[in-house]
Amino acid sequence: LFAGPLDFMKGVVAMDGLPPGDRPEVCFAGRSNVGKSTLINALAGRKALARTSNTPGRTQEINFFALGDSHYLVDLPGYGYAKAPLAVVERWQRLLKAYLAGRSNLRRAFVLIDARHGVKAVDEEIMALLDQAAVTFQVVLTKADKVKGKDRERVLEQVRGALATHPAAFPELVLTSSETGDGIATLRAIVADLA
Ligand code: GTP
Ligand code: MG
Repeated sequence: LFAGPLDFMKGVVAMDGLPPGDRPEVCFAGRSNVGKSTLINALAGRKALARTSNTPGRTQEINFFALGDSHYLVDLPGYGYAKAPLAVVERWQRLLKAYLAGRSNLRRAFVLIDARHGVKAVDEEIMALLDQAAVTFQVVLTKADKVKGKDRERVLEQVRGALATHPAAFPELVLTSSETGDGIATLRAIVADLA
């Protein structure tokens, strides 16, 4: 586990609600339903710290979690398809983009990619935004329990190929499953090192 507990701190719906950037921060971005909130729970070793759902569009605010007094971990609303009215979705998307491009204490964005599906056009858009903003990002493959063998290899190759075109991409991928716990300790260590 982490050195300190992970505690929910604040849900934010507008840029002026962001807490002061007084410590290093990492965030979890990705398509709706990719497993961002579930991954935060797995990192915390808790079941329901961040709210999760089968329905894409569950997380509708920027949720801040404090890791002891050393870091903030940030659970973001998803991008892409969400079960919510278009105007509402557009409001989160603007907030998400403003946050990603404008948060000076953001040390790394973890971009979550479903290990079955690989990098999609909407992921490319976010990666391009992170390149522009010079925010280092690292891909975390989720739901690794759902894909094996050659299918998994094919997706890994596709992701590596996509990352090669992004200057802000950190080259090392992390393959995770919140179901089996694969890769969770590795990701915890990466986060802890980003102080
Ligand atoms: P939004 O907040 O809607 O953007 O979604 P999210 O990315 O936070 O996804 P969430 O954590 O709510 O998970 C979506 C669904 O995927 C849930 O039903 C989870 O149980 C499932 N899920 C997440 N991670 C894994 C995983 O590693 N393996 C499997 N099998 N299912 C997972
Ligand atoms: Mg969520």
